[in-house]
Amino acid sequence: MAAHMGALGRERWAWCVGFFFDVFALRVVWPGASWRVVLGARALGVPLQPALAWVARRRHLPAPTVGRLTLLYTLAAVALMGVSAAEFDGLTSPYVFSLVSFAMAAPLVAEVRRSRLFLLFGAWFVVWTAVLAVAAAYSPAVARQWHDPRALTVYFGQWLFLTLIFGAGMQAAFEIGALRRQLREARKLATYRLKVRLGSGGMNEVWLAWDESHHRDVALKILHDQPSEAVAQRFEREAEALRSLSSPHTVRVLDFGASDDGVRFLAMERLVGIDLERLVRDDGPMPPARAAHLARQACSSLGEAHRAGIVHRDVKPSNLFLSALPDGDHLTVIDFGIARRVDTHEARLTAIGDAIGTPHFIAPESLFGDTSDARGDLYGLGATLFFLLTGTRPFEGLTGLALVGAVSGATPDAPSTRAPGVSPALDAVVLRCLAAVPGDRFADMAALDAALAALNLTWSAADAAVCHARSERASPMQHRPDEATRPERRPSQRPGLRVASDRPPPPANPRESRP
Ligand SMILES: Nc1ncnc2c1ncn2[C@@H]1O[C@H](COP(=O)(O)OP(=O)(O)O)[C@@H](O)[C@H]1O
Ligand SMILES: [Mg+2]
Repeated sequence: MAAHMGALGRERWAWCVGFFFDVFALRVVWPGASWRVVLGARALGVPLQPALAWVARRRHLPAPTVGRLTLLYTLAAVALMGVSAAEFDGLTSPYVFSLVSFAMAAPLVAEVRRSRLFLLFGAWFVVWTAVLAVAAAYSPAVARQWHDPRALTVYFGQWLFLTLIFGAGMQAAFEIGALRRQLREARKLATYRLKVRLGSGGMNEVWLAWDESHHRDVALKILHDQPSEAVAQRFEREAEALRSLSSPHTVRVLDFGASDDGVRFLAMERLVGIDLERLVRDDGPMPPARAAHLARQACSSLGEAHRAGIVHRDVKPSNLFLSALPDGDHLTVIDFGIARRVDTHEARLTAIGDAIGTPHFIAPESLFGDTSDARGDLYGLGATLFFLLTGTRPFEGLTGLALVGAVSGATPDAPSTRAPGVSPALDAVVLRCLAAVPGDRFADMAALDAALAALNLTWSAADAAVCHARSERASPMQHRPDEATRPERRPSQRPGLRVASDRPPPPANPRESRP
């Protein structure tokens, strides 16, 4: 569904760019046409797609409903374009060819069956013709065209050409789509068969994959084809770095390597749950006791990493993964992708232009240079804690240079100004993590952990269970199998906290089951 909406998203820009065409057409080609009608029709088209995407996202609409809405959207769009055509020469308007772009995008947009697409195209023809028929009632010129054999020949001739173009474009789009699917389905990396994509970033994708040699599910991180040498090296170092860590709160690396055709991958234990960014966005800020409990687990993972000389460098809510275990909330730190060993003066692998960290969660010293060390992770964890408590980031609303300026100098508001339940002591802990000068933060993760422990907030398995139950009630769509075209690909697209049914519930201590 996201893909559908994503493809549709480009049309919003097509609508906007079309304003330039309209103005040109109105000034130069058809000066007699009505500005109000033409620009009004276009202006009505601009918000159509964003509104539809908003509704689909907000209400977590299932794929078939989105499909039907998309259909309605195309009909409304064609009608609006038809209104302009009526002004631009009516039946003989070459404007009808503007539908080409639309027609080419449709199969990619909606993954509709071919027969349906022809019906859809037929519906566009009917709508367009109906608009011109209505226009005849208002415009004597269009009315005359309906009785002019030449105009009618041009009209139907144009639609004939359009049909041919549409057919060819659709065929190509289908073939590309089928090829893509085949590639994805047939894709096997070493002994891993890819099942469903869990996430994708600028440099890699994470897939749920079946490990054929060990008969288990794994999370497989795959580097996008043909990584630069620097990126590939960094990837391997992530694997090496992670292998040396044993905290139950650090994602476990099972294997790494490259396929025969040179695609690099990293197999990790497959976690079931939800990342903290998604959790907070869906369920809102969390009680201080829960936030502190989770932050302490992150401290345990990052503390061990730091002692081994590994800095995570991208600590943020989306890289902290929450699972519901029988003994309560269990947090795992993932995505050590840009970790590097601080004790070696190796060449910085981070190529200029690579996005390192996320400005809202990145320490000021890392924004300006390469001096970031373990205290940068303290900042990231502090900003994460801020987000868990308030549902907002410390400098929410700022972007670009203003954000950089604020991060490097300003003190953020205390979390309690946005979440009244936060105590002054917890405020102080968070703000200390967010100090602009690294030396003003806690000395290390152990010190932060001790400060959080001193708050005496308790978060039990029972508390966690209540939260999980509530969050499942709050978003009942969460676990409903989406009626997408490919049900077998659905498992974790919309992760939730409930233990997934395709594997046995995890043991109380997740390490117990590990080799
Ligand atoms: N071990 C895992 N088990 C389950 N899902 C995972 C695992 N690792 C990553 N994911 C999913 O993939 C997404 C992206 O992974 P991440 O390692 O953060 O890579 P990046 O942010 O570089 O794309 C995560 O937000 C999570 O949803
Ligand atoms: Mg990530």
